Amino acid sequence: MSNAKLNAAKSVIPLIPKKGAIGLGSGSTVAIFAKELGRQIAAGEVDVRVVPSSYQAYQLAVEYKIPLTNLDIDPILLLTVDGADEVDKDLNLTKGGGGALFQEKVVASASERLIIIVDESKLVDYLATRYDIPIEVLPFSLGVVRRKIIDMGITPTVREAQRKMGPVVTDNGNFILDLKFSEPIMDPAKVAVDLKMIPGVVETGLFVGMTDEVHIGLEDGSRILK
Ligand code: 5RP
Repeated sequence: MSNAKLNAAKSVIPLIPKKGAIGLGSGSTVAIFAKELGRQIAAGEVDVRVVPSSYQAYQLAVEYKIPLTNLDIDPILLLTVDGADEVDKDLNLTKGGGGALFQEKVVASASERLIIIVDESKLVDYLATRYDIPIEVLPFSLGVVRRKIIDMGITPTVREAQRKMGPVVTDNGNFILDLKFSEPIMDPAKVAVDLKMIPGVVETGLFVGMTDEVHIGLEDGSRILK
């Protein structure tokens, strides 16, 4: 386990509320946080339940005996702790490296605060610098979405599964297109809207204006961007 990810996860521990519902993001950094959350719950230090943002997050909750809830019972979450693939200087994010961007965005939107935990390698000046932008696409619409994306000057690639033939199928039964931009994104809000306006695009991995704090893990500590 990387020390930087561990330090990012540790940095957010003091923000865990004593009681209530929170969102549990996805990824390897969140997995470290989930383990500590489970320990605190088992020790009776906090009385927290979570809405998982993916099947992986659900599995983490089950593994660490974290009580589960959902957005029907708890439509307002005190906070969500999640990871990211890129964080720009305005705290906009690229997410979806693990294919979970759609439910992650829904859970984030239900949260009073979105706290992101990353190691320093995720920091960029502009999004799409070191990571392609994933979008979730309805399989029925794949051909037309791909054509419209190419018309926008962006190169889409269907994300292929690793140990199954064919495309990655998301928790919602959709496909992921990874979008290669010819240059970094200067106006992520506009790009997010333009992409989302294409019928068949279920959601984008651009999280614009949603983040409250980014906890950056370093090899020997952490720092916080607000
Ligand atoms: C999954 C995500 C993850 O939060 C993101 O990929 C970061 O993961 P990690 O903490 O493993 O680097 O968006 O869809």
